[in-house]
Formats: sequence, C-alpha cells, structure tokens
Amino acid sequence: MAKAARKSRPRVVKTVKALREALADWRKKKAPIALVPTMGALHSGHISLVALAKKSAKKVVVSIFVNPTQFGPNEDFSRYPRTIEADLDKLTAAGADLVFMPDPKEIYPDGFSTMLKPTGPAAVGLDDKFRPGHFDGVATVVAKLFTSVMPDIAIFGNKDYQQLQVIKTMARDLHLPVKVIGAPIVREKDGLALSSRNVYLSPSERAAAPVLHQVLKASAKAIAAGEDPETVLNRGRAKVVSAGFKLDYFEARDAGTLAKLTPQQARPKLRLLIAAKIGKTRLIDNLAV
Ligand code: PAF
Repeated sequence: MAKAARKSRPRVVKTVKALREALADWRKKKAPIALVPTMGALHSGHISLVALAKKSAKKVVVSIFVNPTQFGPNEDFSRYPRTIEADLDKLTAAGADLVFMPDPKEIYPDGFSTMLKPTGPAAVGLDDKFRPGHFDGVATVVAKLFTSVMPDIAIFGNKDYQQLQVIKTMARDLHLPVKVIGAPIVREKDGLALSSRNVYLSPSERAAAPVLHQVLKASAKAIAAGEDPETVLNRGRAKVVSAGFKLDYFEARDAGTLAKLTPQQARPKLRLLIAAKIGKTRLIDNLAV
C-alpha cells in the first residue's frame, strides 16, 4: 500500500520583512489569505480555527507571539506555556502554510511609542475592569498583525468574546480591509472551554471547572424561558462561588456592544459572560442566550 504523503512543516518567518516577501507571491496570484493570530500553546480550539481558515481562504498564516503588552504586571506572562515544537507539529498536521513567529523586539522595537486605546466594547466593565490595559495590548498587537499580513480574513475564537468585539470594532474604526470572524468555542466532554491556561489547573480545580459551563447553560435556558435575568445571574453567581471560585463577573450583556441591559431597552440579543479564578488560574467563558 502506498504511504500517505508526509506533510512538510510550514515555513517559519520571524521578521515583518521576511513575512511580506513570503506573502508577495500569493498576493500576486490573488490567493485569498487567512490569518489565525495565536499566542502558541496550541490546542484543539486553535486547530479548529486553522481548519476554518483553510475552508475560507487559499492560504493560511498562523502567528505565534506571546504579546507582553496584554499582560498586567501581576499576570502570567513569564509562566505562560511556550510549546513551540509541539505547536509546529500541530500546525503541520493542520496544513498551515506559513507561521509568523516574531521576537518581542520585532513587534516592539526600541522607541516603539504607539499604543492603541480602544473604548466601546473595550470599556464596559468586564475583562477591562479586571485586566486594566489588556485590550490596549490586544488591539495594538492585532492591528500590527493585520497591517503586517494584510489578510483577507482573520479568525478568532468566540471564547475570548469581549476580545472578538474589540478587534471587530478596531478593524472597522481603522478601515482595515479584513473580515474578522468569530469561531465556535471548542469544549472538553464535560463542557470546560479549551484554553491554553487549563494546564495550570490542579486535579481538584480541573474537577470543579465545568461548573462555569453548567451555570452558563442553565442561566441561558432560564433567561430564554422568561425568568428575570438578574435573579438568574445571582443564582449562577452563588453556584460558581460555592464550587470554590472567586468570581470576577457573571453578566448578561448586549451581544454586539456588550453594554449593560437597561430596563427601558427592547430586549437585545444577549450574551452571558463569566470570568472567575480558581486557585491561581483565571478562566473565562460565555454563551449566547
Ligand atoms: O487570543 C489570543 O491568543 C491573543 O489575545 C491574540 C489575539 C493572539 C493577541 O495576542
């Protein structure tokens, strides 16, 4: 029996100059390009983004960059998992065409002085309240990735739902010619959303973690059935705390703007968003109502 052809590793480039040279030929051929921005430590959630990118474009670029400007001083920048060799194996199997893996100095050279300061969905009292400056770092690095790659489409996971709204708004406001797409959350069998940070969980924390998804599901069902959102949210908050979490927020928001619901407002499409810490690990998740 003939052996299946072995896929070769995608080319890895480290500078914007090399990236643009690598892209020039595809661009000449007018091949649609998709970008999947990541911080590495790739799991099946990321690979589902690459699969969607492959369906939606001719060429797929994946960036791997643990972006220092989106981590606060007391956050996990230095211990964030870095698994480059395993990441490249996964991207080979997934069929990515090019990997952009810059050093921090390439993205933030000496004298770098231009940070974006998003508002709108970046200033609604969710992750922005608990991670001050986080979305400045995200918007800045993603804008740099967009202007470096100039992709036709860019794909992000819905798990970071507030981030997705911030990036969509940033691309629109800066007239960046890229279609930003949110892809479904990939979950473990017990409902825990895949995240590179799940590796931090101890066995007992891991056992408690699915409560976030359970609470999201039960709350979405109750609100859709007409129960008062604040009563439902309070019930969910208590459940998460009694499972051992320190809750940052559990909120029902306008799914597009992430604004708070006002009593006068006709009921918009709702999104439930949760962030909570167990031990040293902060988890986030969300669900449509
Ligand atoms: O979601 C992430 O992994 C990061 O926030 C992103 C979008 C790659 C920017 O650093």
